[in-house]
Formats: sequence, structure tokens, C-alpha cells
Amino acid sequence: MSEADTADVVTAFEQGLAEAAEGYAAAFGRATDEHALRAQNARLLGPAGSLTKLLKRMSQLPADRRREFGKRANELKRAIDVAFEERLSELARAEREAELSGPMLDVSLPGFGRLPGRVHLLSRVKHELLDLFATMGFDVADGPEVELHENNFDKLGFPPDHPATDMQDTFFMKGPPGSDPRATLLRTHTSTVQVREMLRRKPPLAVVSAGHVYRRDDDATHSPMFMQLEGFMVDRGVSFAHLKGVLTHFLRRLFGDDVPVRFRPSYFPFVEPGGEVDVGCGICQRWKRPDAGACRVCKGSGWIEILGCGMIHPVVFEQVGYDPETNTGFAFGMGIDRVAMMRYGVGDVGLLYSNDARFLTQF
Ligand code: DAH
Repeated sequence: MSEADTADVVTAFEQGLAEAAEGYAAAFGRATDEHALRAQNARLLGPAGSLTKLLKRMSQLPADRRREFGKRANELKRAIDVAFEERLSELARAEREAELSGPMLDVSLPGFGRLPGRVHLLSRVKHELLDLFATMGFDVADGPEVELHENNFDKLGFPPDHPATDMQDTFFMKGPPGSDPRATLLRTHTSTVQVREMLRRKPPLAVVSAGHVYRRDDDATHSPMFMQLEGFMVDRGVSFAHLKGVLTHFLRRLFGDDVPVRFRPSYFPFVEPGGEVDVGCGICQRWKRPDAGACRVCKGSGWIEILGCGMIHPVVFEQVGYDPETNTGFAFGMGIDRVAMMRYGVGDVGLLYSNDARFLTQF
């Protein structure tokens, strides 16, 4: 290194040390929080700090000056460290004092608790309904949601040209290539369990079953997936009086002894005679308050259609190999969503499927 270069390095050291020594105390004093203080410290002593960089050039100094500069630089470094630590504890003290003299901690504020899980309202109602029938001696059965066309339609007396797929807007499942595209489907009702249980067992029998069903419906009051409960009884001498008695008892247990119940004739291919049952609307309770205002749920009629029912059609017995001369029986099916809305005063079916904890935790 030339003499001139050596002189430059010496000057750079002198200047660097002087600049560092001059500014740090004020810079630390201006830092009002730990983050700012650490940033100031890093400008001198961090990996890219000015003093760090200077010390890396130590070997460029003439040998006879190294000791002296080294000593001065280390002393400065120590002084900066001390000032840094002092300012750090000063800031911590100030922060603590501000905390102590500030507003008290409000221990009554809500915490971040974890909500325990719970059974969904629809599942609760499903089990309540199954329990009610179980106490009347019905067995509880299950059936698959993916079904054969024949169990969903044919064996229940729907004729092959029946516009059932218009009536119930079915979801069909894709089968192997070349297979009948309508052979497998998502069941459109739980009446399939009648067929399955009757094929599997011999009368007398009384069975209930509940689960999901699917239809290509999707609007404000219909969901493409919903829940039904199916029940039926087969024996010798089962009459419409038994049907009426069982269903009236069930509906009174469910909605209260004073709820009005009415049976209306209706058509379903798998029952004869067939009917529908209405109960007084639990939302507006018009039978108690005839002047009740407009009700969204019953559309002002005061009645809610709650289930379909009837005497099992002889055709169904023939399909499952029961003698229609000796056996009689009744069947019924209902929407569990409807029942849940009525029982718990839910005015909007969408709430049951929107998974909003603010709604679901009310039950
Ligand atoms: N399966 C019918 C539906 O989904 C409901 C129904 C009506 C079921 C009458 C029955 C019955 O068992 O007897 O619309």
C-alpha cells in the first residue's frame, strides 16, 4: 500500500470513530421504543453497521497504528453497548410505569373461550322423533342414500312411464358404460326403507327410519338435500284407525295436546287410500290467536302440512312377496326440517343449512 493510501485509511478510521462517538448518545435518546432503539444500535454495531465495517478494515492500517485504533474502537464499542443497555432498561421502566398508571385491567371482558361442539338441531330432532316411535314399539332401521331405481320407484308401485322424475326431480348416478343410466340414483324419499325392510323380514312388523333424501330442488324453501322420516306397520287387521291413532298420538306428543290435527285425502302411488296430515302452525298459533298477523311459514293459512300417509297398497305387498289378502298396513313419511322448524319456532329453513354458530348454539 502506498503512503497516500495508508494516510487515507488512517483518516477514514479517525473520521469513522469520531462520527460514531459523536452521534450515538443523542440517537439512543431519541429512540422512544425498543424497536427504534435496536435499529439505531444496528446502524453502528449490526452486521452492516458503520463501526462493524470499519473494524473489518483493521488489517489495512499500518502495523504501528493498529493497536491504538483497536483499543479506541473497542472502548467505543463498549461505551455504545453500555449506553444501549441503559436506554433499553429505561424504556422498559417507562413502559411499565405507563402500564401501572394507566387504566386498570378489566377482568370482566369476555375471554377467548373455546365453544364445545354440539349435535346439530336436525340430528337432535331426528333422534327425538325416532325415540317417540321407539316408545310406541317401532324398530329403527337404516337404508342407503344411493339406491336402486326399483326400490325408489318400481316396487313402490310407480308405473314405468310414471313422470316420477318430473315429480321428484331425481339425481341419477353414473353407472358402468353401457348400463341403464337410470338404474342407480340418490333416493328421493325414505319410502325405500319400506321395500328393503319388507323384503328382509316377515310381518308383523313396525319400523321407522330417518335420513337424507335428494331432489333437484333449490330455492328459498327447498334444499337439494333434506331429511325425512318414514314409518310403517304391517300385520293382520291393521286399519286406518290404527294409522290415525298412532299419528295423532305422535303429533300431540311432539307439539302439545292442544295442537289441532287434520287428515286430508291425497295421492301417493304406494298407498290406497292416501292422505296428508296438517297440524296447526306453531309459529303463528292461529288456533289460539285467530287474529294472528301474516305468517311466512304457513302463509297465513294457520296450517302446516306435516306428513304424507296411507294404507299400504296391495301392489307393494305383491312386490315384496307378502300376501295382500291377509296383510294390511299403514305407512307415513315426513320432512324432519319442517318438524324442526315447527318444534323450535324456526321461521326460515335456510338457517338449518347455513351452519351459522350464532343460530345453532341457541339449541
Ligand atoms: N314418500 C313421500 C314423499 O316423499 C311421503 C310419503 C307419503 C311417505 C305417503 C309415505 C306415505 O310412507 O304413506 O313425498
